[in-house]
Amino acid sequence: MCRTAAATCENLRFVLAAALQYRQRHLDRFSELQDSYDRIADEYCKRIFDELAHKPLDRQLLQRLANTVKSGPICDVGCGPGHVARFLKSCEADVFGIDLSPRMIELARRLTPEIQFFQGNMLSLEVADGSCGAIAAFYSIIHLTPEELPKAFLEFKRVLRPGGTLLLALHVGKETVHEDELWGYQVSLDLRFLELREIEEQLHATGFRVRETIERETYGEDVEYRAGAHTFSLRNRNLEDEIT
Ligand SMILES: C[S@@+](CC[C@H](N)C(=O)[O-])C[C@H]1O[C@@H](n2cnc3c(N)ncnc32)[C@H](O)[C@@H]1O
Repeated sequence: MCRTAAATCENLRFVLAAALQYRQRHLDRFSELQDSYDRIADEYCKRIFDELAHKPLDRQLLQRLANTVKSGPICDVGCGPGHVARFLKSCEADVFGIDLSPRMIELARRLTPEIQFFQGNMLSLEVADGSCGAIAAFYSIIHLTPEELPKAFLEFKRVLRPGGTLLLALHVGKETVHEDELWGYQVSLDLRFLELREIEEQLHATGFRVRETIERETYGEDVEYRAGAHTFSLRNRNLEDEIT
């Protein structure tokens, strides 16, 4: 084999090995996240399923989302046990839910059988281009790495119809909290607090127009999921964005 061909083969092998390594890391990461949520799903459901009863602003924003969607269903991304989708349904929205954790999906289907719930990853949604009127992603982008966030926003944009709305809820801050144990269950979760300016810039770069950013105080430990004594006492913000 001539020297140039040998060098090309070597380069190709190197690129393939790097791609396989990247894919394996990606699979390991998401299967770990999925396992963690599978383990805590029942407890999460017990603690969180009724939370919207105590969150007036969140209800108001969801109600408004349901009222303003003109065509196409709302996709509840990272739906957990499905209470956000269920609330949207009670506002007469056409809604379906997607979550990484099969156990969450099982619970969501059992608790609200009139809504369709599917297992899936927000980085590669099995949803047709431009088919959704809106996306509600409540506290589900909090586990994405800084490299994955823009990919998720691109994926949201792909499935939204032009003019569709993205309603995001997240925890504001700078730190990443690692949890090995939650409510007595072994987990491996990185909870990333997010800086609003960066999120807004990324949304702009993806082609969203940020119409509104609302910040609220935490509703307190009795109401909201917390990762640690101090972390979730930070403020939450809801962003509402529209593709122009
Ligand atoms: C903190 S819970 C929020 C659940 C629900 N949206 C709520 O407001 O209570 C995060 C959820 O996002 C899901 N999730 C995390 N990463 C995901 C991904 N890449 N794709 C789809 N779902 C994901 C988890 O399985 C979990 O159910």
